[in-house]
Amino acid sequence: MLGKKFWKLKVQERKISHQERDMKKIAVVTGANRGLGFGTVKELAKRGYEVLLLGRNLAQVEERAESLRKEGFSARAFALDLARPESIEHAAQEISAFPISLLVNNAGVFLEKGIGYDPEVVRETMQVNVLGPLQFTMELAPVLKKNKAQVVNVSSGMGSLSEMGGGTPGYRLSKTALNAVTRNLAVDWQAAGVRVNSVCPGWVRTEMGGEGAERSIEQGVASILAVVREDAPSGGFFRDGKPVEW
Ligand SMILES: NC(=O)c1ccc[n+]([C@@H]2O[C@H](COP(=O)([O-])OP(=O)(O)OC[C@H]3O[C@@H](n4cnc5c(N)ncnc54)[C@H](OP(=O)(O)O)[C@@H]3O)[C@@H](O)[C@H]2O)c1
Repeated sequence: MLGKKFWKLKVQERKISHQERDMKKIAVVTGANRGLGFGTVKELAKRGYEVLLLGRNLAQVEERAESLRKEGFSARAFALDLARPESIEHAAQEISAFPISLLVNNAGVFLEKGIGYDPEVVRETMQVNVLGPLQFTMELAPVLKKNKAQVVNVSSGMGSLSEMGGGTPGYRLSKTALNAVTRNLAVDWQAAGVRVNSVCPGWVRTEMGGEGAERSIEQGVASILAVVREDAPSGGFFRDGKPVEW
């Protein structure tokens, strides 16, 4: 027979784990199935966040979430296709009950190969890299404001006007526009205490960056998360925590 003392201890244990759970901060990462997205999720889980992994292939993000749970982390998976406004709306509805304190708009595409201009490719790139993340962030506005959350938009030096080069117009335009979203929301949400920043991860060895890129995923993730801190600024553009020229 199990004594009263045992059950009292069990109840105390349960209470503690509930308290710990309540204290857990929730982070949302898009494009979380691979590359910088999954790297970011892993690092945030290590830092004590409960992580919500979003990806367009639910089975894949679920597998990733399960691998984290096996390591003892809290992780959940949700479907999100930034090319489809109805998927964005649905995903935002699904996660808006969580007290989100960090949103990392990481997912993105680089569909162009050279200097050519293909209007369809530009349109698709704008949808996935800027219009989709903008819609998603706006749908989450109430919960982001309620929790005085931080928003990190994963941009690129290729979106910097002062360093603007030629070629790949869709990608360049999309990241410049994403930087404008950062500035715009940082102003609009200042009073609500929501901080919004753009970051450049550097040139990273992912499927997008290629094998010849100079940085590891861990280095790219460190650059993304350098801006996630108590005294984080708002409305800035950073690489490795240092300001980048717009
Ligand atoms: N790697 C670099 O050198 C570099 C440099 C500067 C900036 N960045 C930026 O860093 C971010 C992550 O890039 P990465 O290097 O990790 O690229 P990656 O390995 O190609 O991963 C891209 C991620 O975006 C997701 N994605 C693509 N289309 C999507 C859609 N329609 N809806 C939802 N998710 C979608 C992909 O999901 P699927 O697996 O389903 O395709 C994947 O998870 C991007 O915003 C990129 O522009 C990267």
